[in-house]
Amino acid sequence: METALFAICPFCRARQDVPEGQATAGVTCAKCHRRFTMRRPEPAQATPATAPVLRFERPHGVFERPTMVERSVQAVTRTNAAPLAATAPAAPAASVAKAAPALAPAADTEEETGPPILAEPDAAEEQAAAAALRSIKSQLAAEPAPCRLPAPKTAKARRIGVMLSKGGVGKTTTAVNLAAGLAGLGKRVLLIDADTQGQCAFALGVAPAKGLAEFVEGSADADTALIEARENLWLLGGGKGLAGLKRLISRKDFGGERTLDDALAALDARFDVIVVDSAPGWDALTVNVLFYVREVLVPVALEAMSLQGFSEFLRSFAAVSRYRPELSLAYIVPTFLDKRVRGPAALAGELAALYPERICPPVRYNAKLSEAPAEGRTIFEFAPRSPGAKDYRALANRVAAGA
Ligand SMILES: Nc1ncnc2c1ncn2[C@@H]1O[C@H](COP(=O)(O)OP(=O)(O)OP(=O)(O)O)[C@@H](O)[C@H]1O
Ligand SMILES: [Mg+2]
Repeated sequence: METALFAICPFCRARQDVPEGQATAGVTCAKCHRRFTMRRPEPAQATPATAPVLRFERPHGVFERPTMVERSVQAVTRTNAAPLAATAPAAPAASVAKAAPALAPAADTEEETGPPILAEPDAAEEQAAAAALRSIKSQLAAEPAPCRLPAPKTAKARRIGVMLSKGGVGKTTTAVNLAAGLAGLGKRVLLIDADTQGQCAFALGVAPAKGLAEFVEGSADADTALIEARENLWLLGGGKGLAGLKRLISRKDFGGERTLDDALAALDARFDVIVVDSAPGWDALTVNVLFYVREVLVPVALEAMSLQGFSEFLRSFAAVSRYRPELSLAYIVPTFLDKRVRGPAALAGELAALYPERICPPVRYNAKLSEAPAEGRTIFEFAPRSPGAKDYRALANRVAAGA
């Protein structure tokens, strides 16, 4: 009979079948080519009810040795007097996931069920995550107290930049669905795409002829450059034309960093909220976005490289905010939470401990979120009852409340 074993790569989350003979060996992911290790649960451990002497239960098996992130979670939760598996080895597999209940949504999705998963991040991934967390903690320690929280609502439109230099962390997915969620709450929302990839238009199933570049350069007025993509939701599209805008900004002798702010200020009166989707990397346009928005929302994919990118971004953010004291790192949104792999939930817990006021409910890994753009629909239109829709609805509510 064919084996039912499969593994989820802890880095890119690609599913792959595991041949029987390979189940205890290191594996190179077929998609991202990174290596991870796997362990097969001992036969006696397969049924927890008959095997009480278990120490660390993970979605993919039961292990006696804690991982680095589990040790971190233990340290954080020890003060809460929660019974820890490691200190009560005779208890039947106390789940470390209980350490952060708010960050462990109910398993109501097909992605969170199925046969056991054997993958766990290898030591290098854990060390990289730990190093990134140390760097974030040291920068947090250097931050002046009290923390700047989102500015109170004023008559001006709120301007929220969705930003992180690391690519593929869910910026566009978050910007589009946050904007749609806020529009659904009755806010008049403008979504600005400040990325040459121009994927906001694709995700909304529209094809604007003009956009941000033309509007800022003055070759299109607001009526031409903005398109009404949905009820209450307008788009100022991005795309390749932004390359020219970057050159225009770079050629300015002074004040280039305020080019967007100068050009877009007049739009404030028309909208309640302006959401800006930014590009990966760091260039003249990214700096302009930071000089334009007042609140920054950072989606952080729950893996080491994204945390490292967050740490880098914090440095750049601190440099800009010296010139813009009103700029606020307002929301941190953990993305790609996958309950089946222990690492992401533990990292979400660590972020929540570091940023208790700014952390938002996490966005779970949900395949519907990656399918919706191909249909040109938001997650609320494409799969309104999916975990992705629930998570982005919760995020929109949180942002709308301004808390
Ligand atoms: N929670 C999620 N679950 C599953 N897939 C997701 C999720 N969030 C985003 N994706 C998918 O991951 C990919 C990267 O997401 P997205 O384009 O939003 O990232 P990004 O940060 O905007 O990338 P870039 O830096 O290139 O602009 C996309 O294919 C998207 O559909
Ligand atoms: Mg993007």
